[in-house]
Parts: sequence; C-alpha cells; structure tokens
Amino acid sequence: MQFANVPRHIGFIMDGNGRWAKLKGQPRAKGHIAGLNRVDDVLQLCQKYGVQYVSLFVFSTENWSRPQSEIDHLFDLARSYLKKSKSFLKRDIKVLVSGKKERLPQDLVYEIEKIQQQTKDCKSLVLNLCINYGGRDEIVHAVTKILLLGKQIDEKTISAYLYNQLPDLDLVVRTSGEMRLSNFMLFQAAYAELYFTQVMWPDFDEKEFVCMLESYNKRERKFGDIKINEK
Ligand code: IPE
Ligand code: IPE
Ligand code: MG
Repeated sequence: MQFANVPRHIGFIMDGNGRWAKLKGQPRAKGHIAGLNRVDDVLQLCQKYGVQYVSLFVFSTENWSRPQSEIDHLFDLARSYLKKSKSFLKRDIKVLVSGKKERLPQDLVYEIEKIQQQTKDCKSLVLNLCINYGGRDEIVHAVTKILLLGKQIDEKTISAYLYNQLPDLDLVVRTSGEMRLSNFMLFQAAYAELYFTQVMWPDFDEKEFVCMLESYNKRERKFGDIKINEK
C-alpha cells in the first residue's frame, strides 16, 4: 500500500502501557516491556512507508512523580535498548536524544552519548528519543542559551537552539485514548496534525499504522492559508 502523503516527521506519545498490563491482570512493568517490544516494529513500519524522522516520548519531566521502582525499571529498559547499537547501525538508524541529562543515571547517560556517537553517520531514519524531556523545559533551555550568547531571540534562533535540529512535526500520534500533548515537543508540534487512537501502545501494529496514515491523508494542511481553488 502506498500513500500520496507520508509525514516526514512523526512524534509518538507511547501511552497506555500500564493500562494494557492491568487489563491482562499483569503488573505495570509487563506493560512497559510489551511497549518497548513494539518500538522496533514501529520503526520498521516507518522505514517501510517512508517516514524519515521519528520522535518517541520515552520519559517526561513529569514522570519523575511515579514510584521510584517504576522509574528505575523504565531506565533499565532504556539502557538495555540503547545497548543494541549494532542493530541501529545495521538498520542505518541515526539515534538522537532530547532532554535533560541531569538526574538521569550515569550509565544511561553513557549509553546515550555512545549511541549518538556510533550512529551519527546513519542516514535511513532519524530516531529522536525524548528522555527526561519536557517541551517547556526545551524552550527554556534554548532561550537561556541564546541569552547567554547575547543573540537575538526570534523563532529561527529558538528553533536552532532546541535539543536537536529536526524538521517540524507533521503528525503527533497518541495511543490509549488520551487526548492531550502532556508537554511533548510544543515548539515543533505548532502545526502538526494530531491523531488519537484508543489502541494501547503495546497493541499498536501495522493495521493501526495504516489507519493513522489513512487519517493523515484525509487532512488538508493549509498553514493559515486558504484552499488554492478558493483564491
Ligand atoms: C506510557 O505508558 C509509558 C510512559 C509514560 C513511560 P503509561 O505508563 O503512562 O501507561 P498508562 O497511561 O498508565 O496506562
Ligand atoms: C506521557 O504519558 C509521557 C510519555 C509517554 C513518556 P503520561 O502517561 O506520563 O502522561 P499523562 O500523565 O497521562 O499526561
Ligand atoms: Mg500514561
């Protein structure tokens, strides 16, 4: 199946791991493991359909309010995922990480720096992992840097000092039926199409991916303009 319009950059708010597990009578941790197991399949689908940039919301600046045992488990999963550097190289995936390094465990920061360095020349897909990430924090971080450098503050400069240089989001997807951004890529999502599905992240498969692209293809993106035939 081919689509006329494929989003260049998709952001996934991977939500519903906990509820997915609860529905199965399992601990939340099992939901996070199942959620992580979805990630590579979704990346493969992005490559198959021609998406070039993928941002994944892994851990928000607000997620620190969760129990420490859950936080530790999420970081354990992130660490083990990033350790598979060969698999990223094999798939030609460039890994970037957005977010504050402070507060993250040292060994996770080490893996983050290593994978970014190892995959820096990969070209087929850019994977931006948002870890200890908040959209407001990112904007404050950028503006602080610009002020320190004594530069002019405008949209272009703020964009240039965000955690990573990525094109604007074309599509933001949130699973599990919640309809909010939860502080995800606020600057980059300014003109993104939004797609919400009831499906929990661990169940987000090719069928859901195709539904998402079908919905995106029905959207008319006008960016403040009016339709060409109305001019
Ligand atoms: C999303 O699933 C994963 C992270 C926030 C890390 P949740 O853990 O938020 O799952 P629910 O929303 O409780 O079902
Ligand atoms: C957003 O999900 C953060 C991630 C997916 C990492 P949450 O489950 O933390 O968001 P809220 O609490 O429902 O807004
Ligand atoms: Mg949630």
